[in-house]
Amino acid sequence: MTTNALIGGWGMYAPSRIMTNDELSTFVDTSDEWIRTRTGIRERRIAADDETATTLAVHAARDALAVAGLDPGELDLVIVGTCTPDYPLPATAVLVATELGATRASGFDLQAACSGFLYALASGHSFIRSGMYRNVMVIGVEVLSRFLDWTDRSTCVLFGDGAGAVLLQASDAPGGLLGFDLFSDGTGCEGIIMPAGGSARPASHATVDAHQHAIRMLGSEVYKYATRQMGESAMAAVRNAGLTVDDVDQFVFHQANLRIINNVQKQLNIPAEKTYVNIEKYGNTSAASVPMALVEAVAAGRIHQGDKVLMVAFGAGYTAGAALMEWTADPTRAFLAPGEQTRSGQPRRALEEASA
Ligand code: ACO
Repeated sequence: MTTNALIGGWGMYAPSRIMTNDELSTFVDTSDEWIRTRTGIRERRIAADDETATTLAVHAARDALAVAGLDPGELDLVIVGTCTPDYPLPATAVLVATELGATRASGFDLQAACSGFLYALASGHSFIRSGMYRNVMVIGVEVLSRFLDWTDRSTCVLFGDGAGAVLLQASDAPGGLLGFDLFSDGTGCEGIIMPAGGSARPASHATVDAHQHAIRMLGSEVYKYATRQMGESAMAAVRNAGLTVDDVDQFVFHQANLRIINNVQKQLNIPAEKTYVNIEKYGNTSAASVPMALVEAVAAGRIHQGDKVLMVAFGAGYTAGAALMEWTADPTRAFLAPGEQTRSGQPRRALEEASA
């Protein structure tokens, strides 16, 4: 009998501090009109001084555990997809596991930029399919606000902070993750890069003075590549699952630019109502973007039991990832009613239990 990896819990966290386009335009030469029409972004969340990748990830993962009704002690593994970890070492996943009380879980970070959550999901799936683990927490988290050059209008307007998590659980029941595509192409290295802080260009006074620890991007080149590759990865994952695009009930794309999403929609001939979009609220949260959009799509009633959901991401590297899954959980088990947002994104059920 095949062991499947089903999503048993899900959660997200967005820092409470909102930075609007208008606020940005008070300190960098931009405008709400430019940002909205070129990207679809209206505002983004910025982590508080005492928040880190670990604290954001823990909020999201706690929600996922609460939705599943799983004790953290039952977790076997925590995988964190991030390019903005707390430290170059140790791994953020190890800190998250400890903070969660996941006393017997192992943990590691995985870096595939904005595609990190898809790579982490594929890894978690493989650990379960191999029979090695039964409960794997897969998290995408970023605190990009700490890695931006706030004087560079071509990048600082695009990104935001947040976290999303799903709990993968072994099951003999059908469903869960049905098909994947993972892609990478290192010729795109200069397309999106944090030039310094690694072994190629270690941190120095000069690198700090030159803002080389912040993201740099060749926007229009990335735009073209992302638009083509997201379409190709989406098709590859659907084929890999033995299905067609028409079989997909809901698409959850990486929220980098609304125009990219609309373009991919057109390429694949997808009706708008099948695509969940929340870029206007959060901007590009890199590895957190797909799980945050997935969680909000569930909360908004866009995903039902038995639906086929295709998640697609693209990021620095270049990397891309796509995963097709059959959603098996009862969406009403959690969480936020449409339009409702608790500060921590905590599930309503957990809140009710806490206040009982
Ligand atoms: N406000 C006002 N004007 C601006 C701004 C701004 N914030 N940023 C750039 N401009 C100007 C430019 O200077 C340029 O002016 P010029 O014509 O006088 O030289 C003009 O606007 C057009 O600039 P472009 O870069 O050509 O604008 P474009 O329409 O390509 O939009 C954008 C830029 C939004 C960055 C787009 O290219 C994009 O979304 N690229 C893809 C990003 C992406 O997918 N990233 C994914 C991965 S990220 C990761 O992995 C971490």
